[in-house]
Amino acid sequence: MNQIFIANPKGGCGKTTIATQLAGYFANQGRGVLLVDHDAQRSSSDWLGSRPAVCAPINLVASSVDVPVDDGSADTIVHDMPAAWDMDHVADIIRDGDKVLIPVLSSPTDIKACLRFVMGLYRSGVMESNISIGLVANRSRMKTRYFQVLLEFVGRLELPLVASLRDTQNYVKAMDRGLTIFDLPPSRVAADVEQWQPIFEWLQATEH
Ligand SMILES: Nc1ncnc2c1ncn2[C@@H]1O[C@H](COP(=O)(O)OP(=O)(O)O)[C@@H](O)[C@H]1O
Ligand SMILES: [Mg+2]
Repeated sequence: MNQIFIANPKGGCGKTTIATQLAGYFANQGRGVLLVDHDAQRSSSDWLGSRPAVCAPINLVASSVDVPVDDGSADTIVHDMPAAWDMDHVADIIRDGDKVLIPVLSSPTDIKACLRFVMGLYRSGVMESNISIGLVANRSRMKTRYFQVLLEFVGRLELPLVASLRDTQNYVKAMDRGLTIFDLPPSRVAADVEQWQPIFEWLQATEH
């Protein structure tokens, strides 16, 4: 059983985008996917509500704090985490072998917020369990100075930068229709699908 947490208290960093894309990817791989929407804004739930019935199915739990997450029917659980990460609650649902992906934008405020979050994770004791944590640079514009600042920041954290995803309307348009780039004709989204490969490799490499 795989649990993947997409987390970072900073709003707008890409949690829902990455959580829904991952759910769509695994659903297209034929996995039983459970998407757990922890956010009060219910963006993942809205997205799934607009997903066409012909698409690879995804199950949803619109979670309040203490939802029973694992009913045994899913083999991949993707958690779209809320802005406020309740460390005590997370310590209850996170298990050895789970993965945490932290989307981060390359702006000074986002980098600072990410640092605070990672420090909170260390303090919570979550890092002492056998979980894998990686960062995903989202909406990245590699030529900008702040992308370099982000790279330096990640280097100091000693956490892997798993992937960089570019800023593209492909995600926005797909999400508007309840889709992911993995539901679209590959020729239209090849550049983006390629950027996801290191994420899949990292998830697989850290699978127990
Ligand atoms: N790689 C990307 N390229 C373009 N737009 C993006 C990308 N990632 C996220 N967005 C957009 O940024 C906004 C915030 O993303 P979202 O996933 O909702 O963040 P969060 O769930 O962390 O608040 C949304 O409008 C989303 O469509
Ligand atoms: Mg969200």
